[in-house]
Amino acid sequence: MVLICKAEPEHVKGIARVCTEGYWATYSEMFSKKYIKAVVQEFYNEKRILNEVTNSGKEWGGYFVALEDGEVIGAGGGGMIAETTGEVFVLYLDPIRRGEGIGTMLLDAITRQQKEEFGAKDQWVSVAKENQKGIPFYEAREFICCSEQPVYRSIEKENPVSLRYWRRL
Ligand SMILES: CC(C)(COP(=O)(O)OP(=O)(O)OC[C@H]1O[C@@H](n2cnc3c(N)ncnc32)[C@H](O)[C@@H]1OP(=O)(O)O)[C@@H](O)C(=O)NCCC(=O)NCCS
Repeated sequence: MVLICKAEPEHVKGIARVCTEGYWATYSEMFSKKYIKAVVQEFYNEKRILNEVTNSGKEWGGYFVALEDGEVIGAGGGGMIAETTGEVFVLYLDPIRRGEGIGTMLLDAITRQQKEEFGAKDQWVSVAKENQKGIPFYEAREFICCSEQPVYRSIEKENPVSLRYWRRL
């Protein structure tokens, strides 16, 4: 059985694993290895994730995890970007567990937090333009594409383009 709960420090290693593996599986055909390594090192290292698990609030609501037999098989989180507007900042699964409804369960948990705790009325997510593992999921959950924007990361010269997706809650 898959359970969704707010992440605790004991889940940090598992979050780092699913986000790292999920990122590689999603982007290895789009971005260079160098770029992926730099992003994964910056965002999905255990020290940063521990800090993000233990410090949450309105702007970053903390990680939610999908657990099966105590093992992390998915992770995601978001925060409020305006008074009544939430955003999903991160959402990854163990790559072999896609298509079982686990992403929907995590998205629902993030959305419930944003609506119930923070009064969100709408929600955004950024998805890489070529990400065919992510875009159909958000479109199936009634997000619509509103704009395109470059992603500037200081760590590498590659500048992928993101699509900004939006839905009313
Ligand atoms: C995006 C992701 C989190 C979705 O989680 P998931 O558990 O695979 O998705 P679900 O099984 O809950 O699917 C929900 C809906 O999306 C649809 N869907 C999901 N992925 C799809 C795809 N690649 N193509 C077509 N439809 C897709 C499903 O058909 C389902 O619709 P339905 O229930 O109305 O029939 C997961 O696939 C993933 O980790 N992808 C790679 C990482 C990524 O792109 N993350 C987002 C970065 S912003």
